[in-house]
Amino acid sequence: MKALILAGGKGTRLRPITYTSSKQLVPVANKPILFYGLEAVRDAGITDVGIVVGDTADEIKKAVGDGSKLGIKVTYVHQKAPLGLAHAVKVARDFIKNDPFVMYLGDNLLKHGVGSFVSDFTKGGYDAQILLAQVSNPSEFGVAELDGERVIALEEKPKHPKSNYALVGVYLFTDKIFEAIENIKPSGRGELEITDAIQYLIDRDFVVNSTIVEGWWKDTGKLEDILDANHIILRELTTVLASTPDAETEVHGQVELARNVTVERSVLRGPCIIGEGARIVDSYIGPFTAIGPNTEIVGSEVENSIILEDCRIINIGSRIGSSLMGRNVTVRRSEKPPKSYSFMVGDNSDIVVT
Ligand code: TTP
Repeated sequence: MKALILAGGKGTRLRPITYTSSKQLVPVANKPILFYGLEAVRDAGITDVGIVVGDTADEIKKAVGDGSKLGIKVTYVHQKAPLGLAHAVKVARDFIKNDPFVMYLGDNLLKHGVGSFVSDFTKGGYDAQILLAQVSNPSEFGVAELDGERVIALEEKPKHPKSNYALVGVYLFTDKIFEAIENIKPSGRGELEITDAIQYLIDRDFVVNSTIVEGWWKDTGKLEDILDANHIILRELTTVLASTPDAETEVHGQVELARNVTVERSVLRGPCIIGEGARIVDSYIGPFTAIGPNTEIVGSEVENSIILEDCRIINIGSRIGSSLMGRNVTVRRSEKPPKSYSFMVGDNSDIVVT
């Protein structure tokens, strides 16, 4: 059994972060989203892992390397353009060969990983298997129609969904999927859709089975989903203090401080996590916040947010909430008049003021 993790794509819904960086490397609780997927396949006993990469290949290679730190062996598969999930599988043919494999979308997180899903597939002898979750808004997802566990039809973002079972970003395939992909055409949005390839298998009476996901599942394609994922992971944080806050700082709830963190005259209200070399002075860090390495927060309040590394938030006064800040961002209060907001922000930024 092999694994294919998809870490290419356009990431349009996460601009401007994705203009300069891979969405799969956005950290959730200070760990890149992609690493949760890599650990999930490793924990399912799979060590031969292909990662499909696109424009952000260099950054992903730098973060993951050959995979040995995670206990896996990584092969990179280059996809020249993000032409769809089925296209990503097609370009990985030389890596997969004729082995069965789990395909995992690199921006997805699953509480219980994929171990039981992989073992069901191995025992069941199915031609393909999909993972499903019940959702309240099926029209926004690929939706499955079922007969027992067997999948009898799939529809991409249907106007009138036939069930509320949405496709989760994890699939198991045998090499039959390659025949299916060779026989489908790009969809209206110009992509080779994996749902069309699976429908091809269903139409030819191959057995496509399904499993309902247990525990939470998150697709982190949008800002609110990333903040939700951060919330979910931080809820399970335990206190680890590798640095010591000063005597004037109050620490409440579960707080993780990495090494070389300076905390002075502040309040840390967990669950929150603060990365190596960060500096928190005269500030409040509230629940569900992840502060990246070497970020400096002075005279400010931050909660329910993800702030990446090397940022500076200086004397803001009011509270920053529900925010995602990229690397090396400065937000500061001006000392001098005029009293105006002053912005230097990239395309597609979203700024909310009160
Ligand atoms: P999506 O989130 O469906 O697509 P996207 O990354 O292009 O994002 P957006 O819709 O915001 O523009 O992709 C799911 C995962 O699959 C994600 O990790 C990116 C990856 N992917 C590829 O590797 N190759 C592809 O051709 C596509 C479409 C996605």
